[in-house]
Amino acid sequence: MSTALVEPGAVEALDAAAADTGIQSFLVTFIIRRFNPEVDEEPRWVDYDVEVYSTDRVLDALHKIKWEVDGSLTFRRSCAHGICGSDAMRINGRNRLACKTLIKDLDISQPIYVEAIKGLPLEKDLVVDMDPFFASFREVKPFLIPGTKAEPGKERLQSIVERERFDDTTKCILCAACTSSCPVFWTDGQYFGPAAIVNAHRFIFDSRDDAGDVRLDILNDKEGVWRCRTTFNCTEACPRGIEVTKAIAEVKQAVLRGKP
Ligand code: SF4
Ligand code: FES
Repeated sequence: MSTALVEPGAVEALDAAAADTGIQSFLVTFIIRRFNPEVDEEPRWVDYDVEVYSTDRVLDALHKIKWEVDGSLTFRRSCAHGICGSDAMRINGRNRLACKTLIKDLDISQPIYVEAIKGLPLEKDLVVDMDPFFASFREVKPFLIPGTKAEPGKERLQSIVERERFDDTTKCILCAACTSSCPVFWTDGQYFGPAAIVNAHRFIFDSRDDAGDVRLDILNDKEGVWRCRTTFNCTEACPRGIEVTKAIAEVKQAVLRGKP
């Protein structure tokens, strides 16, 4: 979760540096859905007017609010560069990573709405309980299960074409933007969800792996791939540009016809 670890005056110094370079600033209203389980019965929307620069991302604005206005604002973030997958949230009704969303690319003539991703239990402000998400991920056995022992000192070789077969799904950072944008997942929390299927795909189509059939059996469950209604929300939400719906379709085909 975000902490207030910042040197006194650091935010002012960054603002002064931005102003010195002539970068344009704007006053933007953020409306954030806040929830403190210790005092609130229901989430409530709270407005914040924030001065931001054209180079700022939504994550920078959240930091500014936390560091300058209300230190209790709670959200997750770590890398701040689109790698760790910890800051997926709904921004103007769309799942995005706060660290990859430039404020100037949003309509700043209107308030910017920020809330937690949907379909997972809300813990506090923008933080949800990710345990159900990772439980589904673990169920599909997201690790290499080779059928033979590797020869000592030798790698398991793979051709370029074999490696390309699952390249797209190796890019997943487990941010949950896809799963929490899926209407089936919202109504049926038992559904494995797109991210688990993407991570199963990554190993099912790996020529070095021999447990594809096990994973296909798991995903042939009533809460598996057949729950997908091909709405493409997952593909639109993925900050890594993974063709999530296509990966799900390939796993469905493999369930029907066997691993190619
Ligand atoms: S497939 Fe994309 S949206 Fe889904 S968890 Fe992985 S990176 Fe996030
Ligand atoms: S903070 Fe790591 S992906 Fe955004």
